[in-house]
Amino acid sequence: MGLDLTPEGALGGEGTYSRGDMEITPDTLVREVVLNVPGGVAAMEKHRIDYCCGGSKTLRQVAGELGLRVEWVLETIAKEREGGGSTDAELLDVPLGQVVSQLVDVHHVTNRDAAAAILPMATRAASAHPDRPELAKLVELGEKLFGALLPHLLHEERNLFPYVRALEAAADKPGAPAPVALFQSIRHVLDDMEHEHEHCDLLVQALRDATASYAMDEHTPADVRALYEALEAHEKDLVRHMHLEGNVVFPRAERLEVKVRSQAPKSSRRQA
Ligand SMILES: [Fe+2]
Ligand SMILES: [Fe+2]
Repeated sequence: MGLDLTPEGALGGEGTYSRGDMEITPDTLVREVVLNVPGGVAAMEKHRIDYCCGGSKTLRQVAGELGLRVEWVLETIAKEREGGGSTDAELLDVPLGQVVSQLVDVHHVTNRDAAAAILPMATRAASAHPDRPELAKLVELGEKLFGALLPHLLHEERNLFPYVRALEAAADKPGAPAPVALFQSIRHVLDDMEHEHEHCDLLVQALRDATASYAMDEHTPADVRALYEALEAHEKDLVRHMHLEGNVVFPRAERLEVKVRSQAPKSSRRQA
């Protein structure tokens, strides 16, 4: 589901990204490609580049990690760009609170619904098909994934996102004190969140590997087919979810904190 994007209330002064016809070089960040270049996500997916957790790396770095020639990656980006398509560039301008609401109201709900549906499906399928040992592995990995993901969602909803909303409210009131935080800087919280995203991302990859990328044939039982389809749909949603946080909300919130603290009265500023 896409965001209801309205131009009013657009934030300024958080910092800028390159837009539109930006030049792509080996030193361009993965995040800049997927946010600004039509077909950028497709290009990253073709090379299995992790754009949801690796957005702050350069194309040169990710290509090196995967043993790819960066020129090959640049060629793919150019080809996909010629084909056109939408980007997420508008998400850099809509109010941050709107993006956060969409994350909570759509993606967090989807994650919780998936946890409630998928784990029982996997357990039943593993019990019904003992000749398919990968199903027991899916139960184990699924418990680990949702066991990590559900507390992560709560942490964002109770601690991080209220602070982000407070930052945005304070940004409109120059001279107002910066919001009170239980941490020195939002970066400390974001480090934890990014680490948890990477952990979830590894588990998602392990689920995919355990099923040969959810391979099915005419002998695949209906309950296993339904389980694979549910897992794959959840993976797609989670990648989008982590992309919106890691590449849009977290960088914007970090820049917003700098702005708000710099415009707050000196007596209310925290010491770095
Ligand atoms: Fe989230
Ligand atoms: Fe998250």
